[in-house]
Amino acid sequence: MNKPLLVMIASLMFAGSAAALEGNASAGKAKAAPCAACHGADGNSAAPTFPKLAGQGERYLAKQIHDIKSGERPVPMMAGQTDNLSDQDIADIAAFYASKASSTGQTDPALLEKGAAIYRGGIADRSVPACAACHSPTGHGMAAAGFPALSGQHADYTIAQLKAFRAAADGREGRANDGDTQIMRSIAFKMSDSEIEAVASFIQGLHQ
Ligand code: HEC
Ligand code: HEC
Repeated sequence: MNKPLLVMIASLMFAGSAAALEGNASAGKAKAAPCAACHGADGNSAAPTFPKLAGQGERYLAKQIHDIKSGERPVPMMAGQTDNLSDQDIADIAAFYASKASSTGQTDPALLEKGAAIYRGGIADRSVPACAACHSPTGHGMAAAGFPALSGQHADYTIAQLKAFRAAADGREGRANDGDTQIMRSIAFKMSDSEIEAVASFIQGLHQ
């Protein structure tokens, strides 16, 4: 792995490691009841534009719920859903979804080769790093560092996120909650639609 990437990973891992509240998964189950309509009772959503939350890292989940609540990550469909959640509620809900097993999907065979090459090796001519470096070779992420699990995620959702990071990098409305390092914005900015679609399809069929 190249040196700048290792420095980047290390600085991300130590960024924002403020003491997190301990979550209680069984308390979180009841608190997550209103979320089931979109994210599924066990966190495995049926609709491909609603992200699966099952098996996602606790730290990443808590950060996203905080970011959605504060508006740092705008999710209009979730308007009002997070307003009344306390920090403890968020920790409990994150612990609940993290304790569930995520379901897997399938990779379009026509996109397998291209998607796997990007995921495992990046795109050398544009210095796009391998996704596996931070999201792990099996796609389970690095929970303690807050690097999200990607494996089994709906391709439609992953495509939407990469395009949203890319739009924000381009100064348009999008997703900009990846911190001061702008790691995902800078990666997505260098990717074409067809590269995004291929890697998203590969991720959908990746097993943890
Ligand atoms: C009406 C449907 C709906 C409901 C209800 C809903 N969500 Fe969401 N949620 C979404 C959509 C759509 C997204 C993805 C938006 C995007 O594309 O950025 C999302 C994204 C998320 C994410 C980010 C996932 C990731 O991988 O980054 C988390 C965490 C989340 N929701 C938690 C919750 C919680 C907790 C509740 C209940 C308190 C809830 N949601 C209720 C539709 C919903
Ligand atoms: C240097 C580390 C690093 C590399 C390399 C990296 N990512 Fe990420 N990625 C992150 C971090 C950290 C986040 C979480 C940002 C946040 O907190 O909102 C993230 C978030 C994401 C998300 C949003 C997940 C969700 O559930 O909404 C997607 C999709 C994603 N990355 C895809 C990729 C792809 C595809 C590649 C390879 C082309 C890649 N990443 C390479 C660190 C990295």
